[in-house]
Amino acid sequence: MKKLDFIFRRVSVRRFQPKDVDDSTISLILEAGNSAPSARNLQARDFVVVRGKETREALARAAGGQKSIAEAPVIIVVCANPQRSGSSGERGKFYAEIDAAVSAENILLTASVLGLGAVWVGGFDEGEVASVLGIPVRPVALIPMGYPAEEPVRKERFPQRC
Ligand SMILES: Cc1cc2nc3c(=O)[nH]c(=O)nc-3n(C[C@H](O)[C@H](O)[C@H](O)COP(=O)(O)O)c2cc1C
Repeated sequence: MKKLDFIFRRVSVRRFQPKDVDDSTISLILEAGNSAPSARNLQARDFVVVRGKETREALARAAGGQKSIAEAPVIIVVCANPQRSGSSGERGKFYAEIDAAVSAENILLTASVLGLGAVWVGGFDEGEVASVLGIPVRPVALIPMGYPAEEPVRKERFPQRC
Protein backbone atom coordinates (compact mmCIF):
# COMPACT_ATOMS: atom_id res chain seq x y z
CA MET A 1 0.00 0.00 0.00
CA LYS A 2 2.93 2.36 0.52
CA LYS A 3 3.14 2.81 -3.23
CA LEU A 4 -0.31 4.38 -3.13
CA ASP A 5 0.42 6.77 -0.28
CA PHE A 6 0.76 9.63 -2.75
CA ILE A 7 -2.93 9.21 -3.53
CA PHE A 8 -4.15 8.80 0.03
CA ARG A 9 -2.00 11.63 1.43
CA ARG A 10 -3.11 14.32 -0.99
CA VAL A 11 -5.41 16.88 0.61
CA SER A 12 -6.56 20.30 -0.47
CA VAL A 13 -4.26 23.02 0.87
CA ARG A 14 -5.59 26.58 0.91
CA ARG A 15 -2.97 28.46 2.97
CA PHE A 16 0.51 29.07 1.56
CA GLN A 17 3.88 30.43 2.67
CA PRO A 18 5.06 33.48 0.71
CA LYS A 19 8.07 31.43 -0.55
CA ASP A 20 8.18 31.17 -4.35
CA VAL A 21 8.11 27.92 -6.33
CA ASP A 22 10.89 27.75 -8.92
CA ASP A 23 10.32 27.40 -12.65
CA SER A 24 11.85 23.91 -12.90
CA THR A 25 9.40 22.58 -10.29
CA ILE A 26 6.45 24.16 -12.11
CA SER A 27 7.76 22.76 -15.38
CA LEU A 28 7.86 19.24 -13.89
CA ILE A 29 4.31 19.64 -12.57
CA LEU A 30 3.10 20.78 -16.00
CA GLU A 31 4.84 17.77 -17.57
CA ALA A 32 2.88 15.55 -15.19
CA GLY A 33 -0.33 17.33 -16.23
CA ASN A 34 0.59 16.75 -19.84
CA SER A 35 1.16 13.04 -19.18
CA ALA A 36 -2.51 12.46 -18.36
CA PRO A 37 -4.59 10.47 -20.83
CA SER A 38 -6.71 12.34 -23.37
CA ALA A 39 -9.36 11.39 -25.90
CA ARG A 40 -7.55 10.13 -29.04
CA ASN A 41 -4.39 11.64 -27.53
CA LEU A 42 -5.50 15.02 -28.86
CA GLN A 43 -4.67 16.69 -25.53
CA ALA A 44 -7.49 19.19 -25.78
CA ARG A 45 -6.31 21.13 -22.75
CA ASP A 46 -4.06 24.10 -22.10
CA PHE A 47 -2.27 25.33 -19.00
CA VAL A 48 -1.69 28.95 -18.01
CA VAL A 49 0.83 29.74 -15.26
CA VAL A 50 0.10 32.89 -13.28
CA ARG A 51 2.60 34.49 -10.91
CA GLY A 52 1.87 38.23 -11.01
CA LYS A 53 0.22 39.61 -7.87
CA GLU A 54 -2.27 41.82 -9.72
CA THR A 55 -3.43 38.95 -11.91
CA ARG A 56 -3.72 36.63 -8.89
CA GLU A 57 -5.84 39.23 -7.13
CA ALA A 58 -8.03 39.64 -10.21
CA LEU A 59 -8.49 35.86 -10.38
CA ALA A 60 -9.34 35.77 -6.67
CA ARG A 61 -12.06 38.38 -7.31
CA ALA A 62 -13.37 36.25 -10.21
CA ALA A 63 -13.58 33.37 -7.72
CA GLY A 64 -15.75 35.23 -5.23
CA GLY A 65 -12.78 36.47 -3.20
CA GLN A 66 -11.27 33.05 -2.41
CA LYS A 67 -8.14 33.89 -0.44
CA SER A 68 -6.21 30.78 -1.51
CA ILE A 69 -5.86 32.29 -4.99
CA ALA A 70 -4.50 35.67 -3.99
CA GLU A 71 -2.20 34.09 -1.36
CA ALA A 72 -0.55 31.37 -3.48
CA PRO A 73 2.67 32.39 -5.25
CA VAL A 74 1.65 30.44 -8.37
CA ILE A 75 -1.64 29.51 -9.96
CA ILE A 76 -1.95 26.93 -12.71
CA VAL A 77 -5.11 27.49 -14.71
CA VAL A 78 -6.19 24.30 -16.45
CA CYS A 79 -8.32 24.98 -19.51
CA ALA A 80 -10.41 22.91 -21.92
CA ASN A 81 -9.70 23.52 -25.60
CA PRO A 82 -12.62 21.93 -27.51
CA GLN A 83 -11.24 23.05 -30.88
CA ARG A 84 -8.37 20.60 -30.41
CA SER A 85 -10.67 17.75 -29.39
CA GLY A 86 -11.28 16.54 -32.94
CA SER A 87 -15.05 16.39 -32.31
CA SER A 88 -17.67 19.04 -32.79
CA GLY A 89 -20.52 20.21 -30.60
CA GLU A 90 -21.28 18.80 -27.17
CA ARG A 91 -19.01 15.78 -27.62
CA GLY A 92 -15.99 17.97 -28.38
CA LYS A 93 -16.68 20.07 -25.30
CA PHE A 94 -17.11 16.93 -23.20
CA TYR A 95 -13.79 15.42 -24.32
CA ALA A 96 -11.93 18.69 -23.76
CA GLU A 97 -13.37 19.07 -20.26
CA ILE A 98 -12.35 15.52 -19.36
CA ASP A 99 -8.87 16.00 -20.87
CA ALA A 100 -8.53 19.09 -18.68
CA ALA A 101 -9.91 17.41 -15.55
CA VAL A 102 -7.61 14.40 -15.64
CA SER A 103 -4.63 16.73 -16.16
CA ALA A 104 -5.72 18.74 -13.15
CA GLU A 105 -5.69 15.61 -10.98
CA ASN A 106 -2.15 14.73 -12.17
CA ILE A 107 -1.11 18.29 -11.28
CA LEU A 108 -2.61 18.05 -7.79
CA LEU A 109 -1.01 14.68 -7.08
CA THR A 110 2.40 15.75 -8.39
CA ALA A 111 2.35 18.97 -6.37
CA SER A 112 1.59 16.93 -3.26
CA VAL A 113 4.38 14.39 -3.96
CA LEU A 114 6.83 17.30 -4.37
CA GLY A 115 5.88 18.71 -0.95
CA LEU A 116 3.73 21.52 -2.29
CA GLY A 117 0.16 22.32 -1.35
CA ALA A 118 -2.59 22.94 -3.89
CA VAL A 119 -6.34 22.97 -4.25
CA TRP A 120 -8.73 22.63 -7.17
CA VAL A 121 -10.80 25.82 -7.28
CA GLY A 122 -13.83 25.41 -9.50
CA GLY A 123 -16.04 28.13 -8.07
CA PHE A 124 -15.37 31.09 -10.38
CA ASP A 125 -16.89 33.21 -13.09
CA GLU A 126 -15.61 31.64 -16.31
CA GLY A 127 -16.04 34.72 -18.47
CA GLU A 128 -14.21 36.89 -15.94
CA VAL A 129 -11.28 34.44 -15.63
CA ALA A 130 -10.99 34.18 -19.44
CA SER A 131 -11.08 37.96 -19.70
CA VAL A 132 -8.45 38.52 -16.97
CA LEU A 133 -6.12 36.06 -18.73
CA GLY A 134 -7.06 37.07 -22.28
CA ILE A 135 -7.57 33.43 -23.32
CA PRO A 136 -9.93 31.97 -25.96
CA VAL A 137 -10.27 28.63 -24.12
CA ARG A 138 -12.51 27.50 -21.25
CA PRO A 139 -11.01 27.63 -17.75
CA VAL A 140 -11.89 24.43 -15.86
CA ALA A 141 -9.77 24.62 -12.71
CA LEU A 142 -7.75 27.31 -10.98
CA ILE A 143 -5.02 25.56 -9.00
CA PRO A 144 -3.33 27.86 -6.48
CA MET A 145 -0.08 26.24 -5.38
CA GLY A 146 2.79 26.87 -3.02
CA TYR A 147 4.62 25.65 0.06
CA PRO A 148 1.90 24.78 2.61
CA ALA A 149 1.16 26.99 5.59
CA GLU A 150 -1.35 24.49 6.99
CA GLU A 151 -1.64 20.71 7.40
CA PRO A 152 -5.25 19.81 6.70
CA VAL A 153 -6.60 16.49 7.94
CA ARG A 154 -7.76 14.14 5.20
CA LYS A 155 -11.54 14.31 4.80
CA GLU A 156 -13.72 11.23 5.19
CA ARG A 157 -15.07 9.49 2.08
CA PHE A 158 -18.30 7.54 1.68
CA PRO A 159 -17.62 3.89 2.51
CA GLN A 160 -17.26 1.50 -0.40
CA ARG A 161 -20.18 -0.80 -1.07
CA CYS A 162 -19.30 -4.01 -2.85
C1 LIG B 1 -14.76 20.42 -9.36
C2 LIG B 1 -14.19 20.89 -8.03
C3 LIG B 1 -14.43 22.18 -7.63
C4 LIG B 1 -13.88 22.64 -6.42
N1 LIG B 1 -14.04 23.96 -6.10
C5 LIG B 1 -13.45 24.45 -4.98
C6 LIG B 1 -13.49 25.83 -4.70
O1 LIG B 1 -14.04 26.64 -5.45
N2 LIG B 1 -12.86 26.26 -3.58
C7 LIG B 1 -12.19 25.41 -2.73
O2 LIG B 1 -11.63 25.89 -1.74
N3 LIG B 1 -12.13 24.08 -2.98
C8 LIG B 1 -12.74 23.58 -4.08
N4 LIG B 1 -12.63 22.25 -4.39
C9 LIG B 1 -11.90 21.34 -3.48
C10 LIG B 1 -12.87 20.46 -2.67
O3 LIG B 1 -13.52 21.25 -1.70
C11 LIG B 1 -12.07 19.31 -2.03
O4 LIG B 1 -11.43 18.54 -3.01
C12 LIG B 1 -13.00 18.40 -1.21
O5 LIG B 1 -13.52 19.09 -0.10
C13 LIG B 1 -12.27 17.15 -0.70
O6 LIG B 1 -11.17 17.52 0.09
P1 LIG B 1 -9.68 17.06 -0.27
O7 LIG B 1 -9.31 17.63 -1.61
O8 LIG B 1 -8.82 17.62 0.84
O9 LIG B 1 -9.65 15.57 -0.30
C14 LIG B 1 -13.15 21.76 -5.57
C15 LIG B 1 -12.92 20.45 -6.00
C16 LIG B 1 -13.41 20.02 -7.22
C17 LIG B 1 -13.08 18.61 -7.70
